[in-house]
Amino acid sequence: REDVVILGIETSCDDTAAAVVRGNGEILSQVVSSQADLLARYGGVAPKMAEEAHIVAIDKVVQQALDNANLAAQDLSAVAATIGPGLSLCLRVGVCKARRIAGMHNLPIVGIHHMEAHALVARLVEKDLHFPFLALLISGGHNLLILARDLGHYVQLGTTIDDAIGEAYDKTARWLGLDMKKGGGPALEELAREGDADSIKFSIPMRQHKDCNFSYAGLKTQVRLAIESRKICTENNPISSANQDDRSSRADIAASFQRVAVLHLEDRCQRAIEWALKIEPSINSLVVSGGVASNQYVRTRLSHVVNNSGLRLVCPPPSLCTDNGVMIAWTGIEHFLAGRFDPPPPANEPENYL
Ligand code: KG4
Ligand code: ZN
Repeated sequence: REDVVILGIETSCDDTAAAVVRGNGEILSQVVSSQADLLARYGGVAPKMAEEAHIVAIDKVVQQALDNANLAAQDLSAVAATIGPGLSLCLRVGVCKARRIAGMHNLPIVGIHHMEAHALVARLVEKDLHFPFLALLISGGHNLLILARDLGHYVQLGTTIDDAIGEAYDKTARWLGLDMKKGGGPALEELAREGDADSIKFSIPMRQHKDCNFSYAGLKTQVRLAIESRKICTENNPISSANQDDRSSRADIAASFQRVAVLHLEDRCQRAIEWALKIEPSINSLVVSGGVASNQYVRTRLSHVVNNSGLRLVCPPPSLCTDNGVMIAWTGIEHFLAGRFDPPPPANEPENYL
């Protein structure tokens, strides 16, 4: 295992990331170039602009990852890259780079599913995390509850019927006038610490639906209405210019939103654990991963649910929860060692092949 070394490339959304990981899980390097400034300026990810930013960053990020690992491309065992889901213009930049390196050095290619990588990186962090396990994947675009039965064998227990939780955090943060350069989620988590989480009684989504699906669109609307009815703030009125009263109203909304957003996760996890134990009684872990899993409040609340059910919570450190190259390299290792990879692309493949 130690002899296997894989470069992972991630460009599915707004971060250009690369990392080199060894077969035994040793992280040799990890580089991320973020588009937070662009995001804050334009109020979201514009695919064409994100693509441009990836094109500008990709060569440097990958070179940096190899340099920091003290390796040359020809020392690699394979190259892994995210092939989806994500913005196709952005994915293409990472996949083309991976094919270019692999073609030049005759290396196999491993195509990676972004959400599988969010789940499997937990096995790098926790070496004794064996299949089957449960995973809650919470990010900007996805809300998934899956039963991971084996490598490549996943049963979806629940998904969102509208928005993902990260999207709800980002919108709420924007409406509250928070500093989006920090990222909507982290900024909201910080403000929520100052607020009273019981001050506004938002209703908990989908309580009458006895399944494991999620919905955040209704909660978003409730937040929007609460903001409008208090006439306190708009996106164009940044919190930095708010007086103390205004700031504490915003903090109350942030805390009340967060409480209910996470209660919804707790409900669904509770039910998923009960279901999953019926299908696979040997399950002993719930993995929580994806950008929103870096939230401390989320981690604490879910750890209670998990502990009460007699399971163990496995939550990667924040740098491995948000989009990163390590999770791609690691998932590449898992597949490579299982013999699942593509042969090297031709060395002279034209740039516009894809
Ligand atoms: O996994 P990720 O980096 O990218 C996607 O695959 O979407 O997740 C990004 C999402 C964003 O919505 C971001 O606001 C959210 O994760 N996020 C957080 C926190 N850190 C990142 N949400 C809540 N609290 C945080 N601390
Ligand atoms: Zn992600």
